[in-house]
Amino acid sequence: MQWSELIRSWPGEEVLVRYDRPTDAWMFIAIHSTLGKRSVGGVRMKVYPDPAEGLLDALRLAEGMSSKWAAIEVQYGGGKAVLALSRPVKGDERTAMMRRFGRMIDSLNGRYGTGPDIGTTPDDMALLATETRYVHCYDWKVRAPYDPGIYTALGVFVGLKSALRFATGSDRLGGVRVVVMGVGDTGAPLCRSLAAEGAHVLVNDLDDARARKMAAEVGGDVVQGDAMYDAECDVLAPCAIGAILNEQTIPRLTCKVIAGAANNQLRFPEDADRLHQRGILYAPDYVVNGGGAVSLAMVDEGADFEDIRKEIGKMDDRLTKIFREARDKNESPVYAAARMVESVLARRT
Ligand code: PHE
Repeated sequence: MQWSELIRSWPGEEVLVRYDRPTDAWMFIAIHSTLGKRSVGGVRMKVYPDPAEGLLDALRLAEGMSSKWAAIEVQYGGGKAVLALSRPVKGDERTAMMRRFGRMIDSLNGRYGTGPDIGTTPDDMALLATETRYVHCYDWKVRAPYDPGIYTALGVFVGLKSALRFATGSDRLGGVRVVVMGVGDTGAPLCRSLAAEGAHVLVNDLDDARARKMAAEVGGDVVQGDAMYDAECDVLAPCAIGAILNEQTIPRLTCKVIAGAANNQLRFPEDADRLHQRGILYAPDYVVNGGGAVSLAMVDEGADFEDIRKEIGKMDDRLTKIFREARDKNESPVYAAARMVESVLARRT
């Protein structure tokens, strides 16, 4: 993969690349748009076999963040950072690396604000906040981080039910079989909410022990690895990495509905049409997973958690509107979502 071409063909504003020699990691900050106040999006930390894949992740995720902010009508632009590791980095070495990343953010004077994502935690936000002001998911009044994952999960739960209602006529979860892919920060609370309303949860995770523990907790079952795509189910909730909906996996799916917390679930845009042709209702990822972003923006404004819960409840109407428009036009909901984003952005410029 050519780095220069990746960056040149990307429609965003700015890309920052730093090689962190002590850890052999690459730090990427992709600023898709500073429209509104600044670009805001989480920082992902992961081992990538090739750092160019980390760059590609940063570019795609930053673009997705622009859509996410627009979908929830928050005046931030999209940005994302990726710390692309060549090996696991832990302990003091990790702390020192985080601090260097904090100073990199700070050098941008507010053009990019960060938050957690896969591989980073609320504690990391507290650490970054010692180096820069531009940290979100952090309550500056009391100087404590909070976890947006539960709010993302709440939004997905609300959205999953609206998708189910739209597809089947009922959002009752009793006996409904849901495959949850990834039981980390968003997938775990989602499993609990689903089970609390009687769903049968099929848990999938790269970490077998973690999957078994969650399945035991919610009285569900484990589906291992790739078998997840063939599992008999009503709903698929991708809550881990992206690109899992693609030419290879879509023909295997048995679900009626897909709604999950992962970003960039479709490998290519045409995968949305593939799902539509198969009669699977797809809740556009950057819409249904916007609950964490809602919480972040509201905490920045000083809102309390009860107000945030209420606001996330609006996910139902937002998605139902998108699904209706998609049904009227007999197309994937991603097009209605994209039009919604465009009209919000057009009002802003
Ligand atoms: N990383 C999460 C997401 O993509 C939460 C988050 C949202 C973090 C917005 C920072 C900014 O939605």
